[in-house]
Amino acid sequence: MPQNHEATSMRDCLCGSIDSTMIGSIVTVCGWVAKRREHGEHLAFLDVRDRSGIIQAVVDGSVDVRSEYVVRISGTVSLRPEGTINDRLATGEVELSDCTVEILSAAEPPPFQLDDRIDVDEQVRLRYRYLDLRRDKMQRNLRLRALVNATLRRAMDAQGFCEVETPLLWAPTPEGAREFVVPSRLHPGEFYVLPQSPQIAKQLLMVGGFDRYYQVARCLRDEDLRADRQFEFTQLDLEASFVNQDDILAFVSEAVLDAAEAATGVRPAAIGAMTWAEALDLYGTDKPDLRFGMVLQDLSAAFDDTDVKAFSAPTVKAMCVPGGASFSRSRLDQLTEQAKSLGAKGLAWFRITDDGLDSPLTRFLSEDEAVAIRSVDGAEVGDIVFCVADEYALACKVLGAVRVTLGSPPVSEGPHCYVWVTEFPMFEGVDEEGHLVAAHHPFTMPHHDDLDLIETDPLKVRSQAYDLVLNGWELGSGSVRIHRADIQSRIFTALGISDDEAESRFGFLLGAFKYGAPPHAGFAFGIDRLVAIFAGEENIREVIAYPKTQSGTDLMTGAPKDITERQIRDLRIKIAPKGS
Ligand code: AMO
Repeated sequence: MPQNHEATSMRDCLCGSIDSTMIGSIVTVCGWVAKRREHGEHLAFLDVRDRSGIIQAVVDGSVDVRSEYVVRISGTVSLRPEGTINDRLATGEVELSDCTVEILSAAEPPPFQLDDRIDVDEQVRLRYRYLDLRRDKMQRNLRLRALVNATLRRAMDAQGFCEVETPLLWAPTPEGAREFVVPSRLHPGEFYVLPQSPQIAKQLLMVGGFDRYYQVARCLRDEDLRADRQFEFTQLDLEASFVNQDDILAFVSEAVLDAAEAATGVRPAAIGAMTWAEALDLYGTDKPDLRFGMVLQDLSAAFDDTDVKAFSAPTVKAMCVPGGASFSRSRLDQLTEQAKSLGAKGLAWFRITDDGLDSPLTRFLSEDEAVAIRSVDGAEVGDIVFCVADEYALACKVLGAVRVTLGSPPVSEGPHCYVWVTEFPMFEGVDEEGHLVAAHHPFTMPHHDDLDLIETDPLKVRSQAYDLVLNGWELGSGSVRIHRADIQSRIFTALGISDDEAESRFGFLLGAFKYGAPPHAGFAFGIDRLVAIFAGEENIREVIAYPKTQSGTDLMTGAPKDITERQIRDLRIKIAPKGS
């Protein structure tokens, strides 16, 4: 009898572990009937599935079991007769014969076939998620996620970090997304807030002397859902004291590279870095996808004195798309629409042909301008050069978006290209009330060299904030934090946060800092996103057991739902009529 750690009082081993070394043994397995095929009048073949795979069992044809019945089967491991070996199945050489079958649970016919090769409507999959989870893909994805989590924890433990769980019923945090609020029964009219991240809690842990903290942390944000966004998601969250940016980058790199090695079998090379300004300049985005080239180039100097109206702008950015000369007019029109929808006045294009540049703009170009376009790096006959002329940041952003549209491979393709993006700006712009808006959060330390600019030229202030980017996805963000009251107060003033407001929103943090705040810094990255990329999935829903739909509902439980009159009374809340 094979003995292994999968044996329980009900079974000897897993279905997928049975092989020809066990021929002649009698084994008992448990699982679901994946398929039944009749064989002559008196015999039936059952494919029995558990999490490890499938084993074929030959049973008496009179046994009344159907798809998805839960069974316990004992039989003799036998070689399959010649000609019936199934190479596509790991256990395809063997079968269980002379079986006895015990039905543990009968099952209704499932609403969809549990077969990875069959496309099933996602709404149906989510409504019956517990059945969807039986499919190979979901089993693989969630096990991959568990492996990544375990590896991350090991990496953080090995680096001397201590896992601390922080509360879910909490006060507002400063990440800037809309928050989920929870009414308090014991304090009517008052609310808890579900944390957008453990940001403040972890900074308080630094004051508390836990100088290396981490947590596999659930975070909640009431924001519009997208392929890479859910209301609830999980971060590897960390914070450390007596460190600088490089220390944090090293801690996180170690954990991410360990996870990558565990997930893919290959340890990626050390993660390189570029500044935010470089990323914008070369890729038109703060999350560059480095799986492909098509780097942006600056042709502003060549068009300094241009007669081409469309190009008389502070900046002219260009990008060469290999093979793009064959794009149809309608494709070019679509791309132009994309550029306009992002705020550009248009998207100029120049096909490179044997006869020179082909474009409606060619005849307006001076010779030097034509040469400049022709000499964009990499441009060959058969390619196309796109240009956007505008304010610098807009020109970069628009061409960067066109670059992604034309160049980004599917998530499942290409290498994994990690990059650190550093020196983010401190402020990302000005709100309707004229106040600066923090690019990261208000506790981010400005760059040492830019402290003097906070009051004089704030949009030029760089911060000590950094992101980790993988294949065009923002995996995570972090920063060195402000631990000095004088700098914090200058930042609050710049953000238009009054002393009273700072006191009411973050008073407990600022108060704590008065009792000895160590210099500290931290980071958090999205585990859902990392696992989705490892699994080659376009949407993080595929690596989450019970995700919400795009419109924020849980099709299985029906949440969000009405609550009872009694609950409403207890919470002393009033529900406005629907639609009001
Ligand atoms: P930030 O807000 O950038 O930083 O979040 C860090 C990472 O969390 C993931 N993430 C999400 N994943 C799925 N769905 C969402 N709705 C979602 N929102 C964020 C992303 C993101 O990069 N407290 C700071 C970190 C720090 O400064 O230490 C924070 O939360 O992968």
